[in-house]
Amino acid sequence: MEKIIALNHKMNMDYDEVKNYIQKLKKLELNPIVFPTSIYAIEFIKAGFKTGLQNIYYHSKGAYTGEVSPIQAKSLGVSYILIGHPERKELFDETDEEVNRKIKCALDSDLKVILCVGEDKDEDYKSAIKKQIDSYLKGIDREIIIAYEPMWAIGKNIIPCHKKLEEVINYIKSFFNYDVKVLYGGSVNSESIKTLNDVNVVSGYLIGTVSTDINELEKIKEVVK
Ligand code: 13P
Repeated sequence: MEKIIALNHKMNMDYDEVKNYIQKLKKLELNPIVFPTSIYAIEFIKAGFKTGLQNIYYHSKGAYTGEVSPIQAKSLGVSYILIGHPERKELFDETDEEVNRKIKCALDSDLKVILCVGEDKDEDYKSAIKKQIDSYLKGIDREIIIAYEPMWAIGKNIIPCHKKLEEVINYIKSFFNYDVKVLYGGSVNSESIKTLNDVNVVSGYLIGTVSTDINELEKIKEVVK
């Protein structure tokens, strides 16, 4: 099965860089899901990429200054929403309840959800992930995609070993009554992908730091495709 490649640009690149990047990304024929900074989403949509937002609000419309609703995203041509990213929890104090409401609201607008789960460095992965899945998915039975993003691996140039990654992904899958796709995110780059790509249960990758680097993406493609 072809691996999913999701690119989380976070808050990187200015508009000129984005336009230049799009030209190069088109030539790469990687078929990614791109999560650009939201103001640039329309550029990726117009260029024909599957496009997502890195965050969303949990109301459809109204006086919520600075927020973007799932209905607005959908009407633009956005098809995916990343929800519960560890940086949103850590830096913006996003709560489990907010994550739950965001998932519900995004699914109600027929957007596909990629939900991040993962443990912090001194947490037991089983209890951390169980708690997250229980609270994030309370009252939700529609299908979503999971991204396993251990907080200790994000931007740190370290990755879980083969055995641990396989174990965690199988653990995550055990909570779902459908064949849930589980991506891995955290320090994915042209070197780590050589090890990561041996883990068959991984459905794809959520790439952060090197997602704006076309040379890195080209090397990753060589390993994955
Ligand atoms: P890095 O690839 O920079 O570790 O970030 C991973 C991430 O947060 C993807 O969403």
